[in-house]
Amino acid sequence: MSIAAAQPLEAVSFPRLFSPFRIRGVALRNRVVFQPHFTALGGLDGMPSEDHVAYHEARARGGAGLTVFESQAVHPAGKMSRRFVSAWDPAVIPFYRRLTGRVQAHGTKIFGQLTHGGHTSLERPPHLLWAPSQMPEPSSHFSTKAMDPEDIEATIRGFAASARNAMEGGFDGVEIKVAHDGLLRSFASPFFNRRTDGYGGSFENRMRLSVEVLDAVKRATARDFPVGVRICLDEFTTFGYDLAYGLRMAAHLESTGGVDYLNSDAGSFSSYWMEIPPAAVAAGSFRGLNAALKKQSHLPVVAFGRIAPPGLAEAMLADGEADLIGFARQLVADPDTPDKLRRGEAHLVRPCIACNDACIYQVGQEKGIRCVHNPAAGRERDIDEPLAVEAGRRRKIVVVGGGPAGLKTAEIAARRGHDVVVLERAARLGGQVALAARQPEHQAIAGVTDHLEAMLRHLGVAIRLGVAATPEILARERADRIVIATGSEPNLPAAPEEGAGRSPALELGRQVEPDIPGLALPFVHSGDDVMSGAVRLAGRVLVIDNNGHWEGAGTAEFLADNGCSVEVATPDFMVGGDIESGARTLFYRRAAIKNIAIRGGLALKSIAPGRATFSPVFSAAGTRGFGRYLLVPGGDVVIEDFDAVVAVIGRRSREDLYHRCRSSALLAGIPIERVGDCVAPRLIESNILEAHRLGARL
Ligand SMILES: Cc1cc2nc3c(=O)[nH]c(=O)nc-3n(C[C@H](O)[C@H](O)[C@H](O)COP(=O)(O)O)c2cc1C
Ligand code: SF4
Repeated sequence: MSIAAAQPLEAVSFPRLFSPFRIRGVALRNRVVFQPHFTALGGLDGMPSEDHVAYHEARARGGAGLTVFESQAVHPAGKMSRRFVSAWDPAVIPFYRRLTGRVQAHGTKIFGQLTHGGHTSLERPPHLLWAPSQMPEPSSHFSTKAMDPEDIEATIRGFAASARNAMEGGFDGVEIKVAHDGLLRSFASPFFNRRTDGYGGSFENRMRLSVEVLDAVKRATARDFPVGVRICLDEFTTFGYDLAYGLRMAAHLESTGGVDYLNSDAGSFSSYWMEIPPAAVAAGSFRGLNAALKKQSHLPVVAFGRIAPPGLAEAMLADGEADLIGFARQLVADPDTPDKLRRGEAHLVRPCIACNDACIYQVGQEKGIRCVHNPAAGRERDIDEPLAVEAGRRRKIVVVGGGPAGLKTAEIAARRGHDVVVLERAARLGGQVALAARQPEHQAIAGVTDHLEAMLRHLGVAIRLGVAATPEILARERADRIVIATGSEPNLPAAPEEGAGRSPALELGRQVEPDIPGLALPFVHSGDDVMSGAVRLAGRVLVIDNNGHWEGAGTAEFLADNGCSVEVATPDFMVGGDIESGARTLFYRRAAIKNIAIRGGLALKSIAPGRATFSPVFSAAGTRGFGRYLLVPGGDVVIEDFDAVVAVIGRRSREDLYHRCRSSALLAGIPIERVGDCVAPRLIESNILEAHRLGARL
């Protein structure tokens, strides 16, 4: 890596990233490409929506040089989701004009990506899927129709009609998808294409469909209208093609003379984690792949894949590894990334943390795109962060708690012109995020609170660490508004942070401890105890995962990395069932490598020294009458011989300060709000959204 990538963010400049470039006749103001990504913001009528317009306009306003509008279907059989745009239908043209005009008004060029979904679909069950040879995508159970000659002809016609519509709709160019999903890659792939007619059997025959599509698209559009190809260079599967074959595909398409640029890509539905790499796939991992394409090609090359930190983009351009830098999720997380980099504000960029928890997790369910820490993503018409409305009256706002919810509330309140103070009882900000960042392959999550801290310092918010707020302390602040964001704690009998006493919330029955004998035994610990370093465990550790997200899975992996022999028991059928599937698959692979034993379908019943008893979630007990459909405890399952138990069985809000403040005469008349986990323990995405909304109305 060159020096630029290792410098502190504030010191990095981006002369190459912000130099102009041309693709065929189209002049780009800089080298930043907003990579195509399906957003599920389209209507069920197949038309681009106003949400699309606002989403892309925000990234154009933020300074991107080129936006490539998401995968759109060229034929009804090619819709990978009901929310795919129907690019073949001339009815899209007025919608296109609105979209392209609003993007171009900001100086950003816009291309449209065209595809046929072929053997891949997000729908369950899918519509009839088309493929070169009849077989399901290995990650799916749904088989396909082997395409007849007239299907192939209709596909080529669909690409041509769609490209013409795109041109008439004001797009500056189109991009043909021979990438990680869809028909054109499956035709090119020796694994998926076993045909022996003119479209299979030899390399040239497998490439024929892509070549004919390119030819038809060129003939359907103006001579100077750019046509690019997004190309999967390595499928990253045991059965698929490798980089050498991917480069051969690229060279073959380039040799037709019908391609104006190449956009790099990798992975497939069967290797999702290389297509949209989560944090466990290190940033910069695709550098070699991008560079290999650039080395062999005479065309402009767009690089892709977790290009972070931003200095890496400049370094890649300096090292001649690409002509253009493709960012997808970075601009989802922060639409203003280009402008911030250009202005020398790299330290204020909200980084994509590669969690995949909202963007692809939502879109994979055909729901509108979101981002865990950009509450505006996909909701631009509702939330406009940079243009937060100035508060009518400047107030003093005191926020108690330096986790994501408190910091986000403080940020939005400060942006609106309030005088904001944050009180945090720990010696550093971050709350649970600081603990999560210590989990293996999870360091990137610290970007959520590190970014908020950078914003607060930039906005001049006073941050006071080591202050355990009380009504008395808060009264001395003479605040106009108080926001309590004290977070949550593990729902175990004696949470160490609060001392051994039971909280009023438990006494009042507002909260309920789990009814599991043995949780108070000295060898039973919480995930927070482990991740904070309050306890250091050794030997055989039994982890109970009732959480379904990283709190259980990541703690188990942390213990394994620290020399423990780890077994995880969960009442679900998998550990981390709520984690995005690509990231979860990689967790399971690491768990296998690290000898973490996983047992599903076991509900914890009791713990005793060296012995934990579980009820199998399904058992033969109570099998008569209606009772057979009730979950009745069946024959016990016992796990023995462990040295410690880590029980990740839920959290409870730290709400006591909020109620004490509300009933304190010292704070009478001061509006007191609460936000985040201290309302109800949730994931970051929900807390950040709630905090944004609170900050916007203070
Ligand atoms: C929600 C989502 C949808 C995507 N849809 C597409 C798509 O429609 N077409 C495409 O070529 N790539 C698609 N991608 C892949 C991205 O273009 C990009 O290659 C990938 O996210 C890795 O780049 P990044 O690390 O900059 O996000 C999608 C990615 C995400 C996160
Ligand atoms: S949800 Fe996570 S991976 Fe997706 S854009 Fe936001 S930070 Fe990045």
